[in-house]
Amino acid sequence: MITHRYAVIGNPVAHSKSPLIHAAFAKQFNLEVRYERVLAPLDGFSATVTRLIAQGYKGVNVTVPFKFEAFNLATQHSNSALNAEAANTLTFAHEIYAENTDGIGIVRDIQENLNVKLAGKKILLLGAGGAAQGVLHPILEAHPRLLVIANRNANKAFAMAEKAQSQPVFSHISITGQGFENLETQAFDMIINATSAGLSDSALPISHAIFSKGGLAYDMMYGRETPFMKEARAHNMIVADGLGMLVEQAAEAFYIWHGVRPETRSVMNMIKQLPSPSLEQ
Ligand code: ATR
Repeated sequence: MITHRYAVIGNPVAHSKSPLIHAAFAKQFNLEVRYERVLAPLDGFSATVTRLIAQGYKGVNVTVPFKFEAFNLATQHSNSALNAEAANTLTFAHEIYAENTDGIGIVRDIQENLNVKLAGKKILLLGAGGAAQGVLHPILEAHPRLLVIANRNANKAFAMAEKAQSQPVFSHISITGQGFENLETQAFDMIINATSAGLSDSALPISHAIFSKGGLAYDMMYGRETPFMKEARAHNMIVADGLGMLVEQAAEAFYIWHGVRPETRSVMNMIKQLPSPSLEQ
């Protein structure tokens, strides 16, 4: 039997749970899949992909800091990759196909695993970097009533919001961008933290007025309780980390490569029970 080879490429990558997740998925279908961690030098992403293709790999997941390079290296792009302007899944055939499953991953985790619907909601997206851009479109496609993008550098939030609002398909949604300082006037049904502030244990300079009792506070980071999560919990919000998103984005990549949809809840539980914390997203 031919064993197809896949990998996750990142730098760092040693902490990545993706091999465990893909192995658990493959087991559900008795598939022979080999999925490894590949550390690429910071200036060697493209060379690493070329080597893996030559060695017969069928595809890779891409993590920090290579999602933009992965997008640029690809010769075909799905809408999900075009919207995110970044790729977390590459498939090698005659061409290099880029897709981005992060946004589908977070929307599925929120709507199906956490059972919180996005339609009609007032949503605050914190951050305007790659992680925020990666999930923006799928969130808007779920029809929230209002989306505010807030970022330390307000201009980035403003530009991101303006670009999204200019698309006719989102004209029914109020999309605005701003800095953190003007947030005190409204509470949100849902707050999604897409900043990397939690990596350094930094609290965000945000007003407590944004937290609404019973609303959802979602941090895309996983493996640690960030200051954002602690504050939201103190304000009686439902708090979730990004573990479900990690597993759901992997499930979507698995579907792209193998044509079958794995069951995710048991895999989330398995990852939760692992001892070492992880910072991957
Ligand atoms: P990623 O791919 O994780 O999104 P990124 O593109 O470098 O990485 O974006 C990091 C995001 O986290 C940005 O929104 C950044 O804010 P700025 O655009 O103002 O730099 C935000 N961020 C990082 N550290 C932060 C901190 N300590 N406080 C507030 N925001 C922070």
